[in-house]
Amino acid sequence: SGEKKTWMRQPIIVVLGHVDHGKTTLLDKIRGTAVARKEPGEITQHVGASVVPASVLKKLAEPLRKYFPKLVIEIPGLLFIDTPGHELFSNLRKRGGSVADMAILVVDIIEGFQPQTVEAINILKEKKVPFVVAANKIDRIEGWKPHADTPFLESIRDQSPRTLSLLEEKIYGLVGKLYEHGFEAERFDRVRDFRRTVAIVPISAKTGEGIPELLALIAGLSQQFMKKRLVTSEEPAKGVVLEVKEEPGLGTTIDVIIYDGVLRRNDVFVVAGRNGPIVTRVRSLLMPRPLQDMRMHEGRFINVDLVTAATGVKVAAPGLEDALAGSPFYVVPSDDKVEEYKRITQEEVSQIRFRAESDGVVLKADTLGTLEALIEAMRRENIPVKLADVGHVTRNDVIEASVVKKSKPEYGVILSFNVKVLPEAEELIAKEGIPVFKHNVIYQLLEEYFKWYREFKE
Ligand code: GTP
Ligand code: MG
Repeated sequence: SGEKKTWMRQPIIVVLGHVDHGKTTLLDKIRGTAVARKEPGEITQHVGASVVPASVLKKLAEPLRKYFPKLVIEIPGLLFIDTPGHELFSNLRKRGGSVADMAILVVDIIEGFQPQTVEAINILKEKKVPFVVAANKIDRIEGWKPHADTPFLESIRDQSPRTLSLLEEKIYGLVGKLYEHGFEAERFDRVRDFRRTVAIVPISAKTGEGIPELLALIAGLSQQFMKKRLVTSEEPAKGVVLEVKEEPGLGTTIDVIIYDGVLRRNDVFVVAGRNGPIVTRVRSLLMPRPLQDMRMHEGRFINVDLVTAATGVKVAAPGLEDALAGSPFYVVPSDDKVEEYKRITQEEVSQIRFRAESDGVVLKADTLGTLEALIEAMRRENIPVKLADVGHVTRNDVIEASVVKKSKPEYGVILSFNVKVLPEAEELIAKEGIPVFKHNVIYQLLEEYFKWYREFKE
């Protein structure tokens, strides 16, 4: 086997934040600005992600040249994970961390920190994902004079002293909150050491102010601190299953984020399934059809022969019905390695699925990522876990909880995230009087249980 081709891939950037703080608007703005200006080398849609190429980054950051004449973009672009939501973010799990190289934590500067902001910070901390804070909606600060698509540093020159002091007040509010969570933070242009201090970039996703700085900062930080991590080569693909989806005419497919190597049609791969590892072969690799060639009689996807990291791709293959979102995805390099890769996958997954302590709560979730997020939240609060698994709440889960209830009633409960309680279980729940907490927002699920737990303890 000769020399392998290597290249620097796009950093994978996740956008997180509380509901309505402007995550989608931010990505739409980045996309829209580039489209409106008819920039060459357009932004490409991937499954579950989109890539802003270097050429577009350069153009969008062009107004910064005055301030940072040495700004050179070396990365091929940025891959943004479009579908934020903590559920999906949780699925970007990788042994020992996250597939995300960096994150943008969007905070509404008027509203400040909210429950999902805290939840996001906790996940970023646990997964050791570096992040910058986009302090969004600066256009809503009293007296703000908007300047479309302008650098923040330019726009503030034209704001009144009163507006500027309101802005500073808000930023210091964020600095204080971040400090409470263990992070030193500062407005980006006052940061001396980006390894120690979280940069806050004031932006407006609506007017575009501050977006040049935000993009330049992310590009700059990834070039400076993660060059090695971004080097990939022509090796069998590694990825993570973001979602498992039924598609008309295709059956069950998986949306995969590939962070390493090359994935080809007919490659044999392993993913985790409800009943153990699944070994199957890529039937087709699907990318979203570009908007301009959308035709009535064609599907939403186009077939490709291969994809290279970093990318999001839909994989159609037989036997994916039981695949688990949040699972690792490995291409098997050769036939004699199938067992080895099954074992690796199984090991990674069983670390999450069972946390057996004799007296602890029962956790049921829809994906490996959300299950892991629940387990970590329990660990933070020192709540023991007896059983943690992906899937609906079964009669057996209730039996487990009712055994715990006898000795430790505060833990004799079931937490169910985005899954159903099966009818067979309902009956026993009523009979045994097992408290069941259900919600499809993680922090609300936890809050309900913790509230009950505190009341119980009193
Ligand atoms: P979820 O996906 O529901 O979590 O929300 P999100 O974070 O994606 O927020 P979204 O982008 O949908 O924005 C929520 C609302 O805030 C929308 O009405 C936006 O128009 C508005 N909004 C977002 N960014 C800005 C901004 O910079 N300025 C102002 N004035 N409004 C904004
Ligand atoms: Mg959104």
